[in-house]
Amino acid sequence: MANPLSTLLLVALLSLSAAAATRTKLQPTNNVDGGICKSLVETQGYACEEHKVTTADGYVLGLQRIPAGRSGNETAAKLPVLLQHGLLMDASAWLLNEPDKALAFILADEGFDVWLANARGTESSRGHTSLSPNDPAYWDWSWDELTAYDLPAAFQYVNNQTGQKLHYVGHSLGTLTALAAFSQEKLLNLLRSAALLSPIAYLGQISPFGRTAADIFLAQGLALLRSQAFPNEQVNRLLDFICTRPGIDCSNFLSVTTGPNCCLSSSSTDALFKHTPQTTSTKNALHLFQMVRKGTIEMYDYGLPITNIKHYRQPTPPVYNMANIPKDVPLFLSYGGRDPLSNVFDVNLLLDNLKDHYMDKLVVQFREDYAHMDFIMAMNANQVVYDPLLSFFRLH
Ligand SMILES: *[C@@H]1O[C@H](CO)[C@@H](O)[C@H](O)[C@H]1NC(C)=O
Ligand SMILES: *[C@@H]1O[C@H](CO)[C@@H](O)[C@H](O)[C@H]1NC(C)=O
Repeated sequence: MANPLSTLLLVALLSLSAAAATRTKLQPTNNVDGGICKSLVETQGYACEEHKVTTADGYVLGLQRIPAGRSGNETAAKLPVLLQHGLLMDASAWLLNEPDKALAFILADEGFDVWLANARGTESSRGHTSLSPNDPAYWDWSWDELTAYDLPAAFQYVNNQTGQKLHYVGHSLGTLTALAAFSQEKLLNLLRSAALLSPIAYLGQISPFGRTAADIFLAQGLALLRSQAFPNEQVNRLLDFICTRPGIDCSNFLSVTTGPNCCLSSSSTDALFKHTPQTTSTKNALHLFQMVRKGTIEMYDYGLPITNIKHYRQPTPPVYNMANIPKDVPLFLSYGGRDPLSNVFDVNLLLDNLKDHYMDKLVVQFREDYAHMDFIMAMNANQVVYDPLLSFFRLH
């Protein structure tokens, strides 16, 4: 059976923000405060609008729009930028620091029309045309559906509202869904350029521990699938169990799981635990662990050839081929030397797939000292990541 450390690393992939929240008994509070606009944007002196878009498979997703900077000055030709958060987070991910350090506010102050997406299942995106979140069918999706439905709905909606092509910023899982869509040549007609922070594509190099952990999770996952939403009671109990093992320091969960983030302030970390974990589906978690185990980027594996045939008309899941991303898509990638989730070896596999990309369309930035959360929360990210990102956007 699992040694506690490997189990820990496994759950790590999904979030130890979850564990920390469990330990401190904090619950996300966006809705209690009346939505992300009211609780996190207007309080900083910015105008904010709550929008809704319905996906082709019936999910009603919330989007927040910050249409202007603090000065409130409207300029004529604002370009829209869509920000997509990572796993177990929501749009609050972009709003955890002071306005001069948080990317969403910086982009608004720099004259962009800022749109914040929220994945299905998060607090802002709990609606559906016919299903309720209490219904197991509501949670029957993985990042395949985020790629096929959520992202296109958000792109199309922002394009409809603004009449402009979009810049895109993704963090973590928000990079995987974009890369997967681009590899199918989707969304590109609506895209100006894409910035991918802590890029996730391959997950196979994560660590031997991570792989063991994935095996354990995949074995237990079938039982968990019954409840569909993740994190759920069983996971929380598992984390509580792990945290009481000798030698495991859960007060340090964030760095155990997302790496030794160099530059977080305690106020942004407090804010993070106030707004995470957001809920995802267990199927999404299983899909990610399949990628850890197999080292491939392919659709959710139903396990049996006959079941895969039912879904895909082939015995194995279709592959997302990153080498198919058109060579002229403007891409900005920023990855960190201490990021255990966007592991340097896995990023190098992705870069190898992009080796024929036009050189003037690909900017790759490596931050030796950065771990997973630094890209959205570090006190110096405004200078070391967002300034180069803004220069990149201005070129495209
Ligand atoms: C807003 O725009 C007006 C007119 O262009 C300008 O005079 C004013 O200084 C701007 N205000 C701020 C705070 O940037
Ligand atoms: C965008 O506009 C088209 C044409 O008006 C409409 O059919 C479509 O539903 C809109 N899509 C979204 C996501 O708003």
